[in-house]
This record gives sequence, structure tokens and C-alpha cells, in this order.
Amino acid sequence: MGVNIYKVAVLTSGGDSPGMNACIRAVVRSGIHYGFEMWGVVRGYDGLIKGDFKKMDLRSVSNIINRGGTILKSARSEEFRTEAGMEKAFQQLKERSIDALVVIGGDGSFKGAYHFSEKYDIAVMGLPGTIDNDLYGTDFTIGYDTATNTVVECIDKIRDTADAHNRLFFIEVMGRDAGYIALNAGIAAGCEDILIPETKTSIDDLVKNLKKGRANRKTSGLVIVSEGDEEGGAYEVARKVKEQFDGYEMKVTVLGHIQRGGSPSCFDRVLASRLGVAAIEGLRNGESRMMAGLINNKVVYTPLTQASKMHSEMDDDLFRISKILSI
Ligand code: F6P
Repeated sequence: MGVNIYKVAVLTSGGDSPGMNACIRAVVRSGIHYGFEMWGVVRGYDGLIKGDFKKMDLRSVSNIINRGGTILKSARSEEFRTEAGMEKAFQQLKERSIDALVVIGGDGSFKGAYHFSEKYDIAVMGLPGTIDNDLYGTDFTIGYDTATNTVVECIDKIRDTADAHNRLFFIEVMGRDAGYIALNAGIAAGCEDILIPETKTSIDDLVKNLKKGRANRKTSGLVIVSEGDEEGGAYEVARKVKEQFDGYEMKVTVLGHIQRGGSPSCFDRVLASRLGVAAIEGLRNGESRMMAGLINNKVVYTPLTQASKMHSEMDDDLFRISKILSI
């Protein structure tokens, strides 16, 4: 057993993602396997502050590996950002003699976890649970694969009706600060253009591209827009394009929270399972303030400060490919 660690709590925080349940299952089962007493915290940091804990045993995580959402519920906690909120959370853990906390979430959740463990004597381990894939220190976040597959499935359906009516669709996908969903789903769904926050978007270039497609005998089109693009969401981009180009009847679809739900893919279940075990094994080996991630198919521990602050590089080659293929 890890140095001074006997009781471990796990929580899910921030936007939920498919695979969080598989991850909770892996944390709880591997924790019990290694002899820890395991606790679940309901509704993320808010539940931690209020003392909403439940003891987890092997059976409390049965039949959840296939389920979207999170059995522990999730929240974005404002109170945990305050000194008073953190103090209350620590007291709740202390009362129960819990020595370590596993946080499944995204960058905001990790920032909170880091400050918490810096201030109080509590080991923390982060696990990347977000559909956005925007954490440094892992090639993939839990939920990203399922979300991109959901997007591709939706765009395939939109393609049918776009083609039937000779229309141009602007499809908005999630990713407040990151364009990974848009870039990969845009290639997989064969979109004419991909607009993401990491690269400069030019409406003039987009219009040029759409005109070129029309000249190349395209009769319909699909443009994927990441919600964080600097030109605005899909409605805004469509409005700007309409001012310069009337080659198609234009429609807008915002996919929204459909991207966050659903049964996790095989990839996300395996990823969640591997990282859940890695979190417990890391704690056992004395690691703290780390995020367990997967790089080149190997488990890697990255300091939480780096995981939440730094961004993985966008792959320029994906853009190049998309430009070649979307003519
Ligand atoms: O961080 C995950 C995410 O799904 C983002 O892609 C999106 O911008 C945000 O959460 C939406 O958050 P909420 O569900 O709180 O509106």
C-alpha cells in the first residue's frame, strides 16, 4: 500500500464524458484490489464541500462500464475556487480519514485539484475525462473517441439531406477552446472546410473554397465549425458567408450536448480502464499532483500544472490532408 494512504475518494468534475463510468469502475476495483478503502463523492467538488460521500464496494460499480454520464454525477463548482470552500472540503475528507483523491475531469478540475493538494495534506491524482481532448500529457482524453464518433454519425445523416436538397450546412461542434473534435470529425465526415480556434479563420478563404467547390460541380456542402472559433459559432459564420456568396441555400445545425452522451466506444472503455488502474498504482507508488495519461500507448504521469496549462500541438498534417481531399 502507498505511503500513508489507506482511504481513497474518487469524483467526477466538469463536463461529463462517455467513459467516466468505466473509469470510476476501474479506480474503485483496482483500489480494492490493492487493499484501499474506496469512497465516491457525489457531484464533484460541490459534493466534497457538502460531505456527500458514499462507500464504494466491488458491486457498486457493476453494470456501468457501458453507460454514458457518470453514476457519481458531475458539477462545475464555484465554491471550490474559494479558500473557504477548499477548507470545508478538506475538513470533510479529514473527518473520514481519507488520504487521497482521484479527480476525473478536465483542465479546470485539475487546477482546483492542484491548489487543493498544495494547500492541504492530501494526495491527488487526475484522470483526463473530457470530450475536448485538450489536455497535455495524454494522446487521448476519455470520451473524445465516443464524442467524435457521435459527431461523424450525425454529420453523415446531415449529408444525406444536404445532398437531397442541394444545401450547404454549417455544423457547430463542441470544444470551447480546442478544435480537436472539429478537426478529426471534419476529416472523417468529409467536410469542405474545418474552422477551429487554434488557427486563424478567414471568411474570405472559406468563401473562395466554397466557390471553388461549386465550380468543381459540387451540389451541396458541409462546413464544421468549432464553437470556440474566433469568427463565432455556426450561425455567425453562416451569416458572414451569406453576405458574400449565394451559391447554395444555407442551413445551420448545432449538435450541442448530444456529443456528451451515449455509450462509450471500445476505445474509451479500454482507455478509461487503463488510466483508472494507473491512478491507483501511481498513488501506491507515492505519486501525487499528477495526471495519468497515455502517450504512444504507454501510461505516463504528467504534473497537473502542465496537464491543465499546456495544449497538445494541433497536427498540421491533418489540415493538409483535409485541404487535399475536400476539393
Ligand atoms: O469541456 C467540455 C465541454 O463539453 C465543452 O466542449 C463545452 O464548451 C462545454 O463543456 C459545455 O459546458 P456545459 O455543459 O456546462 O454547458
